[in-house]
Amino acid sequence: PHTGRWKVWNRDDVVQTLPKRRANAHKGTFGTGLLIAGSDDMPGSAVLSAIGALRFGIGKLSVLTTKEAKQIIASIVPEATFLIRDLAKQELIADIDPFSCIAIGPGLPQDDVLEQLIHEILTKEIPVILDAGALRKREYPYRKNPIILTPHPGEFVRMTGIATKQLESKRIELASKYAVEHHVIVVLKGQYTVIAFPDGSGLINVTGNESLAKGGSGDTLTGMLLASLSIHQDVKAAVANAVYIHGLCADKWIEDNGSSTLVAHEYANLLPIVMHQIE
Ligand code: APR
Ligand code: MG
Repeated sequence: PHTGRWKVWNRDDVVQTLPKRRANAHKGTFGTGLLIAGSDDMPGSAVLSAIGALRFGIGKLSVLTTKEAKQIIASIVPEATFLIRDLAKQELIADIDPFSCIAIGPGLPQDDVLEQLIHEILTKEIPVILDAGALRKREYPYRKNPIILTPHPGEFVRMTGIATKQLESKRIELASKYAVEHHVIVVLKGQYTVIAFPDGSGLINVTGNESLAKGGSGDTLTGMLLASLSIHQDVKAAVANAVYIHGLCADKWIEDNGSSTLVAHEYANLLPIVMHQIE
């Protein structure tokens, strides 16, 4: 039913759309991303997202997190700067305009404070990526800049109330319906990640493999998306390229290693090799 408006995103598409890093570039060319992630119990999610963003080429990265999580993130990702907020104490952010893109959710508990923060962020005209703890049933405002949701099937079920069994056989149809009705981009993850756009079109990703079926691989993707949105002009290419290259790292891994052995903090280290082959 979707032929024509849906297509497989392939290597040639990536090669043609991935922005070249010009010789006269400076860090401002590649945006400043804000990552709202990590809590005292889940600092590692923010580490993984931050590594994903920096390795994918973002110009500057700020991480809004708790004081305790910051100590851990800063010790592993010295390139990041920090905004310390205890979301549990309702310390929100007043000025988020200077950022080129915001990603929110990895390692955050789902609660009312987070919900209020998300509503505040969605009033700003900046591309926003919502993942993990930031995904729940809600309505989205109409805005010029994209809203990108990155659910795995369990999170999509939580967002929609659709039965898991029904989702398995209708991933494209259901992701597309949600994207059109809520005017958001849906990245429905899993084997053959489905990327549904609000105009009814969509892309199917064919990279990635079972080595990604391990906690943390989604957090890395969120960081890569944050960077990708900051460096691309074209939103569709930005989303699809991050998903494609994320999967390609895992494909590279199983060329030389056992598929059960990949851990998320290592495969962002594969980005240099994988990007070198694409650029
Ligand atoms: N083939 C290809 N890609 C896969 C496969 C597979 N078989 N399995 C997983 N992936 C990819 C997905 O497409 C996605 O990009 O790995 C990534 C997994 O992302 P998430 O499911 O978000 O995983 P992550 O958040 O890192 O860890 C799961 O989420 O809901 C919470 O509590 C849950 O701790 C758990 C965490
Ligand atoms: Mg996840």
